[in-house]
Amino acid sequence: MRIIAVANQKGGCGKTTTAISLSSSLAMRGKKVLLVDCDPQAHATIGLNVSPSDLEKSIYHVLTPTDNGALGIEDVVQYVKENFDLAPSSVILSALEQDLSGVQGRENRLLEAIQALQAPYDYVLIDCPPSVGLLCINALRACDEVIIPIDMSLFSLRGVAKLVEIILLIKDKLGHEIRPRALITMYDHRTRYSKQVLQKVKETFGSNVFESAIRYNIRLRETVDYGLPIGDYDKHAIGYADYENLAEEVIRVQEEGEHPEQQVAETARDILQNTEDYMDSVREALEKDLSTGDTSAGAAYQCAPSSQDPGVGYTSNGPDGMSEDEQ
Ligand SMILES: Nc1ncnc2c1ncn2[C@@H]1O[C@H](COP(=O)(O)OP(=O)(O)OP(=O)(O)O)[C@@H](O)[C@H]1O
Ligand SMILES: [Mg+2]
Repeated sequence: MRIIAVANQKGGCGKTTTAISLSSSLAMRGKKVLLVDCDPQAHATIGLNVSPSDLEKSIYHVLTPTDNGALGIEDVVQYVKENFDLAPSSVILSALEQDLSGVQGRENRLLEAIQALQAPYDYVLIDCPPSVGLLCINALRACDEVIIPIDMSLFSLRGVAKLVEIILLIKDKLGHEIRPRALITMYDHRTRYSKQVLQKVKETFGSNVFESAIRYNIRLRETVDYGLPIGDYDKHAIGYADYENLAEEVIRVQEEGEHPEQQVAETARDILQNTEDYMDSVREALEKDLSTGDTSAGAAYQCAPSSQDPGVGYTSNGPDGMSEDEQ
């Protein structure tokens, strides 16, 4: 069973869209998938057409022990479609941090619930909230891999530092290895800015960036209104093709074998160092701009233009130059 968290502190970078679409694509390849919605916003739950207000039990009841013991994931699971189950969330999950304050082992609640699963899942995906509180820590503690969606904004990269710090802390304190990998989302090859951010992501993550990138695609936005994964909404959408590629890559990584343990920790340290270097350079640029009075919009956040076009050779699944609405 592979346990994969989808996390980034930055809001709106494509975590939930990735969790839903990747789960669906894996399920359509015959893999048995459980998606755990670990976000009190319950967007994965709503995005799969389950109404949080109609739920009697949710992942909150699994993570919170009561006098009668806690429920198991199987007690709250909802059937989405063949091979695809959901452990839904609701707003009450936001009370978890307070409810578990002072409770010993509170960061292991999700791990224990997953370990107690009777159903043989091939993949457990965990959709994290846009913060690094107890819910995200539970997700990281439970997973072996983390997908870090990076939308085409440099703020997304800044959210990575805290996440990687926690990954390293879990490694140092608990000896548990988590492999981080970045996923480019909302990529628009037509903009120079997207290409610059892509270059920065590659510099930061080295080889730990998925080859498959998720392009900006309006159809992915529409799916939420219909409560359907992209593959069940529009099979011709580029967003569907991109997540299909990602699913194949995720499966392929397993077949090719995992990285040796030490390499994983070194990777995380490199990522943290590169992210911190980048943040220092932004800070310096900002200070310089302020002292010279150059406050032109976003001056400090510009990447240095790259001499090499990072878009060249990058996996692209659709015809170049086609606008989002044409696909
Ligand atoms: N590739 C894409 N192209 C266009 N829109 C996208 C794409 N991926 C996600 N979106 C849209 O961007 C918005 C944010 O996406 P999503 O909810 O997946 O982000 P998130 O990281 O889970 O947000 P949060 O931090 O609030 O949990 C949604 O409206 C979603 O439909
Ligand atoms: Mg989300």
